[in-house]
Amino acid sequence: MAQILVCDDEANLRELLCLALEENGHRTRGAANGAEALRLLEQSPWDLLITDLRLPDISGLDLLRRAKELAPERPALLMTAFASASTAVTAMKEGAFDYLEKPFEMEELHLAVARALEQGALRRENDLLRQAVGEREAGEVIVGVSPTMRRVLELARRAARTDASVLITGESGTGKELVARFIHGCSGRARGPFVAVNCAAVPEGLIESELFGHARGAFTGAVSHRPGLFVEADHGTLFLDEIGETPLGLQAKLLRVVQERLIRPVGGVGERAVDVRLLAATNRDLMEETGAGRFREDLLYRLNVVNLRLPPLRERREDIPLLAARFLEQHARKYGLAIPGFSPEVMDCLQRHGYPGNVRELSNLVEGAVALTVEGRVEMDALPEGMRCGVTRKEVPESTFRLPEGGLDLEAHLAALEASAMDQALEACQGSKTRAAELLGMSFRTFRYRLGKLVGRN
Ligand SMILES: Nc1ncnc2c1ncn2[C@@H]1O[C@H](COP(=O)(O)OP(=O)(O)OP(=O)(O)O)[C@@H](O)[C@H]1O
Ligand SMILES: [Mg+2]
Repeated sequence: MAQILVCDDEANLRELLCLALEENGHRTRGAANGAEALRLLEQSPWDLLITDLRLPDISGLDLLRRAKELAPERPALLMTAFASASTAVTAMKEGAFDYLEKPFEMEELHLAVARALEQGALRRENDLLRQAVGEREAGEVIVGVSPTMRRVLELARRAARTDASVLITGESGTGKELVARFIHGCSGRARGPFVAVNCAAVPEGLIESELFGHARGAFTGAVSHRPGLFVEADHGTLFLDEIGETPLGLQAKLLRVVQERLIRPVGGVGERAVDVRLLAATNRDLMEETGAGRFREDLLYRLNVVNLRLPPLRERREDIPLLAARFLEQHARKYGLAIPGFSPEVMDCLQRHGYPGNVRELSNLVEGAVALTVEGRVEMDALPEGMRCGVTRKEVPESTFRLPEGGLDLEAHLAALEASAMDQALEACQGSKTRAAELLGMSFRTFRYRLGKLVGRN
């Protein structure tokens, strides 16, 4: 849901737009002229401004300029009854993300709004990233101390120096998009645009025109000329996210662009050259998809010049404490809370969890825990219930223990029991401490610590 300000002097249209946007889950306010819009813009934060070009007091372009001064990262859409190429260019320069030629279909409005909001979110994220990077190297934004992640980052850095296409694979939430941005940021194109498109999210009928643009009147609803994302990413990087979901027909067209770097807008005449570096990501196994005839092999080879495989979080548990600390700091700052850290039990739980949702899941877990922590460290009761018991509780066998009449040295007895249990677990797991620890329901660290103590004692 976003907060959208709609500025148009025509009351009927203004209300219609507000209504349509609200039906789509957004919150809106209407303004009848530039002065009112400016007042509202100054009063509260808006995610998006939609304005008509012709306003009774100032011009829509002036409004765009002022709005941009107030919040440079906020996207804006311009509506106009007669879009000339020069107005469109000026509008883009003044910060409009896109323009809509009146009359337009509501579907077109929704698409433009969704794209503009996505762009806004991206810009904010980029700004944060840039701030975070500051004088530090871009690499520090990505947390990764495990050998596998270090290797991935090293390869990413190397690939960034070239224009080679990179295919980033990995389960959902492993950081594919983050790595794509990282490559762009470390590359010679860093000052150029980074344009991301989620191939799975754009309806099949629209994706071609999204990517390659369309000429005016190319199809019903194509009320204005659209340059397309390849053009938008010119001299920068285009990130084709969820590439595995691309329909076969489009794959053939993509292959041509990848080979020749020439695009042909839908319904347009002629081609134009684009200078775009391609990055793609997928959580599917594209070799398997190729075998099943769902993905073109030739396209796979073109995109997969360099392959970066992001390991699932459960295979790089060393990264968990640092990631958790990073997310704690981030989310605590967001909520204005001062939380010093996690209790050892919580950290233990975090380290042992399976993370089917990978880094994103860890981030969400920490965010939830932060939200439930009133003061002090994050304690066990801030973790979801399933996590609290599911991981640690193991079935306890009924005890056959009988206290000898003369009593016993309980400490020594427990130590012997512990040593025997650990021995047996190690034997059962062919010496793997990780698995032995799991078998005994304890963390690897605890297991290692206790083993050390036992060995020291003997
Ligand atoms: N190594 C990391 N360091 C810091 N943050 C990370 C790291 N990896 C992932 N994240 C964060 O986790 C979240 C998920 O990452 P991202 O969106 O890049 O994953 P993805 O692989 O593209 O997932 P999906 O397949 O679901 O699209 C993001 O908020 C990202 O910032
Ligand atoms: Mg992603």
